Amino acid sequence: MCMNGPSIGIDSSGRVSLLPFRYLSRHGLIAGSTGTGKSRTMQVLAEQLSDAGVNVFVSDVKGDASGFCAAGKENERNRLAPYQPRPLKANYWSIGNRLVPLRFSLSDAGPVLLSRLLSLNSTQESNLALAFSYAGKNKRQVDGLEDLLDLLDELLEKKQRGLNPSSVSVIERKVLALQESGAGALFGKPDVSLSSLRGLNVLNLSDARKNMLVSIAPAFLLQKLFYELPEKGDADRPEYAIFFDEAHYLFKDSNKSLRDLMVTILKQIRSKGVSVFFVTQDVTDLPEEILSQLSTKIIFSQKVFTQKGNRRLKALAGSFPKTGLDVMEKLKAMPTGVAIVSTLDGKGNQTAPEEVTMFAPATTMDVVSDNEMLEATDQRLAGKYARKKAGKMARKAEKQDAASPEPGKREKQKKKGPSVWDGIFGFLLKLLDFILKALGKIFTFAVFKPGRRLFRWLVKKPVRILWLILALLALYIMAVNWPLIQGFLDALNFS
Ligand SMILES: Nc1ncnc2c1ncn2[C@@H]1O[C@H](COP(=O)(O)OP(=O)(O)OP(=O)(O)O)[C@@H](O)[C@H]1O
Ligand SMILES: [Mg+2]
Repeated sequence: MCMNGPSIGIDSSGRVSLLPFRYLSRHGLIAGSTGTGKSRTMQVLAEQLSDAGVNVFVSDVKGDASGFCAAGKENERNRLAPYQPRPLKANYWSIGNRLVPLRFSLSDAGPVLLSRLLSLNSTQESNLALAFSYAGKNKRQVDGLEDLLDLLDELLEKKQRGLNPSSVSVIERKVLALQESGAGALFGKPDVSLSSLRGLNVLNLSDARKNMLVSIAPAFLLQKLFYELPEKGDADRPEYAIFFDEAHYLFKDSNKSLRDLMVTILKQIRSKGVSVFFVTQDVTDLPEEILSQLSTKIIFSQKVFTQKGNRRLKALAGSFPKTGLDVMEKLKAMPTGVAIVSTLDGKGNQTAPEEVTMFAPATTMDVVSDNEMLEATDQRLAGKYARKKAGKMARKAEKQDAASPEPGKREKQKKKGPSVWDGIFGFLLKLLDFILKALGKIFTFAVFKPGRRLFRWLVKKPVRILWLILALLALYIMAVNWPLIQGFLDALNFS
């Protein structure tokens, strides 16, 4: 690596091609058909940025970018690379306990991203916000999805003012569906802190490819960085470089409101020193607003089979400045590991496209095993995040378990069927409960309802209270002086 930025390969005139740090502080794109060398280039960039002290986070959807912890093998290497094969220090995360579990606390994340994720309408969204604000005011931590379900249950039960029960039920159903999809493991405590994400980090999502976690986890990570990092303005190098391999997953299942939120975050996160590199086969998988924000473009060969594909290729070739290089032809026919590279210069102009033969990574291109990844990971991190703290319900259940008699006895009690007396006693209890509830309702209706109505009637116009006080005073005076009044009435011959 050069002092000014990562060296990525050799250009057509035989010079080392490097990407200045300053231009890497904007978002970038690595695109190309399958097997053209995108993930290897991502690996080269991640290695060198990490060497230069930039914090790197790689979202590895297929698990084939796992090789950072092992040295590259001579036989798999592109001989042009000027550096020796070597392993790097890397930490490996997963969702769930396979590697170090990556978790986010819902309380910290807030309701907005979750609402968008659950495709809530505006009424449901405001109900969720109300629930979060109730939790905040009452110092109630809502870390995992179970905590959220407990909170919503409680608010429904106590008929919390302002909450719409049918909206809350819909939210609960959607949260349950999210939990069933396996996302429960992504939320809870201990939640990841930014200090744990220093250095080179890989989120291995190879076991989560079929579910939504592939897009949910990066969304929560971006939001965390966005919320917690201070404003940096125009930095001369990124503080965090985030690589989204198979970036189409980021937007694949997202509804419009989630997509809009992601676009807003991505547009603004650059000023916090975060650069995002999208690695994808098809650039049209990315929203137009994101494509227009990209600075560095590394485009490998694009196989085109349809008219639409041809139009796409034309648009891509047209996004580079016109020079002697026929980008369109190159993009159709370059071999594996060769790309067209261009970036934005200091004045914000796209630099002339260069044909670059990419270096091979210093670390292995092989897939490494879970054991190797775990061994390479900082053991303090593994210890810190290993055990998920139980939510409120689970803690309650644990306490009950601890207070109950020894397990054998409990088992026996459970297995014993209910007796006839249990049935009669249960029926009597239910009857008593019914009678008490009915009496309670009659009492409420007879006493509280008219009382409440009178109170509301009085409160509407304060002068009515004055009249009531005067009337009560008159009644009191009459009661105290009743013998006098009676004498007076007798004298008048009225009684
Ligand atoms: N710079 C390179 N030096 C040496 N070999 C390379 C290089 N780039 C790619 N290769 C070879 O090409 C193979 C495919 O590369 P890579 O995994 O990066 O493709 P990809 O574009 O990410 O494909 P996919 O879209 O399927 O993930 C590698 O396993 C390696 O054998
Ligand atoms: Mg790849």
